[in-house]
Amino acid sequence: MENLEKMIEKADSLEELEKVRVELFGKKGALSKEFAKLKDVPGPEKKAFAEGLNQNKVKLQTLFDERYTTLKKEEIEKLLKAETIDVSLYGNLGEKGALHPVMATMDKIIDYFVALNFAIEDGPKVEDDFHNFEALNLPKNHPAREMQDTFFCKDGAVLRTHTSPVQIRTMLKQKPPIRMIAPGAVFRKDYDLTHTPMFHQVEGLVVGEKGEVNFANLKSIMSEFLHYMFGDVEIRFRPSFFPFTEPSAEVDISCIFCEAKGCRVCSHTGWLEVLGCGIVDQNVFDAVEYKNVSGYAFGLGVERFAMLLHKIPDLRMLFEGDTRLLEQFR
Ligand code: PHE
Repeated sequence: MENLEKMIEKADSLEELEKVRVELFGKKGALSKEFAKLKDVPGPEKKAFAEGLNQNKVKLQTLFDERYTTLKKEEIEKLLKAETIDVSLYGNLGEKGALHPVMATMDKIIDYFVALNFAIEDGPKVEDDFHNFEALNLPKNHPAREMQDTFFCKDGAVLRTHTSPVQIRTMLKQKPPIRMIAPGAVFRKDYDLTHTPMFHQVEGLVVGEKGEVNFANLKSIMSEFLHYMFGDVEIRFRPSFFPFTEPSAEVDISCIFCEAKGCRVCSHTGWLEVLGCGIVDQNVFDAVEYKNVSGYAFGLGVERFAMLLHKIPDLRMLFEGDTRLLEQFR
């Protein structure tokens, strides 16, 4: 009997325990053999012998069941350990995307002006003649209209050739003071190394009481802004002409490709033109019926900034959707 108990205790896997079960409780097992002896036991002792056998059988069965429970539990625990998932491990995160360089540049520009309390304004891409030209001091037949190679739509509508119409829309719906930027897509019939028919501009407009907003303000904010964008560059303001500003200027930075020594990108001048700006022309204020105000405005091409910041040689590359370019901006 002790032997049989030992067999159960020694089994250290479910497989072994199964073997023990057959050896003990099977048809030809140890217990069956014990019970077979019963027929040779003399009559008066049979009862006591049978009771003894049954007690042993119950004892062994209990022991077996306990062992089975223990081994089963161990097995489950082993399995759980082996199959544990470490949720703190990094999984396969897949390919990481990134902002398109034009959008990233746009965001960088917007961040600068939002930090200075400029509001972001928006307007339609299909504009009417009044907002795109007329109110901006470009009357019909004005020769300056030829500066803009316009996409004309049906019924006199145009694809906006600049973001300046958003100046007009904002002034018509709000009273001064105004402090706004208008980022967005614009359209011109152009296609070469530095022009695509669709590109993005950020427009800016600040209007205050007469005398409150002047060229010095414009000059200082444009200089600060260009240092923020391009770091330690030289900046120069060059007299220029826009119908909607007077006086007007174009702003150059010293060439970041050749450090102003002269190269192909700066046409050997050492300077890169980066934006247009000026003091808002009185005719524009008349068109929106603003009285006794002064203001400045500026406009810049986002693609041009992106090209300069990332030294991209051909502007058209930005719109070809070639992942080899885009992958470099992750
Ligand atoms: N709208 C002008 C352009 O597209 C840029 C500009 C905006 C110039 C505001 C001066 C003031 O070329």
